[in-house]
Amino acid sequence: MDLLIRESAEIIRESKFVMAFTGAGISVESGIPPFRGEHGLWNKYNPEVLDLGFYFENHEECWFYIREIFYDFFADAKPNKAHKVLARMEKEGLLKSLVTQNIDNLHQQAGSKIVHEFHGNSKRLKCLLCGKLFSSKEFDFKKIPPRCDEDGEILKPDFIFFGEGIPRDAYENSFADAEKADVCIIVGSTGEVTPASFVPRTAKQSGAVIIEINPEETMFTGPVTDIHLKGKASEVLSKLEKELF
Ligand code: APR
Repeated sequence: MDLLIRESAEIIRESKFVMAFTGAGISVESGIPPFRGEHGLWNKYNPEVLDLGFYFENHEECWFYIREIFYDFFADAKPNKAHKVLARMEKEGLLKSLVTQNIDNLHQQAGSKIVHEFHGNSKRLKCLLCGKLFSSKEFDFKKIPPRCDEDGEILKPDFIFFGEGIPRDAYENSFADAEKADVCIIVGSTGEVTPASFVPRTAKQSGAVIIEINPEETMFTGPVTDIHLKGKASEVLSKLEKELF
């Protein structure tokens, strides 16, 4: 492993455009469960509560679970070492772009500035009638569903439900950066969800070296990954940080 860490650090140092692509795995050590796998959220909850069609028919029921999953679980989570190392790599000019599938805002809380929120962000709520955006901090969620103070409309969390399109800017910026990248660091994603999983694949097709950090093998490991750093995000990125700085 140490040899692979040194090799990865060398490749990153010599590169011109390094990007990162992160999934739920990077936030596991912040206490946020992943979606899939043994302790995954989708083992405990029916994903239909995040299906857009079902949501429009069952606001109250969905908000009951949305509050439990995303505003009870997520609310107090803090960035871990892995988030902080990526933020430092950006600050030191080594990381040019970060595409995340996560809606937990932890990259931003760790200090990352260039974050493309491919699936939106749970810290914002949106009125689908007037388009007004709210910070989730404005609500205590004891009373649900939260409503717009302009028109009384039920607010929707500003993240992507199943069956909903990807935010246009995040989509375009993510693929534009993937085409520019000469290194893509994948952290903690199974690669099962599209179109997000096409981002590292696009970087690969554009000639980037793919470095994957995950304790398990994933949909990326065989066909896409060049270097698999098998381990937990915070441990591996701590070692990489020592090699880089
Ligand atoms: N460090 C690194 N990776 C980890 C860690 C850890 N400490 N713990 C678990 N993992 C890995 C798992 O091995 C798995 O490969 O993180 C991955 C989590 O996979 P998923 O739960 O499928 O998460 P993700 O790929 O981000 O899911 C994509 O699915 O439900 C939707 O919109 C949701 O953005 C999400 C999308």
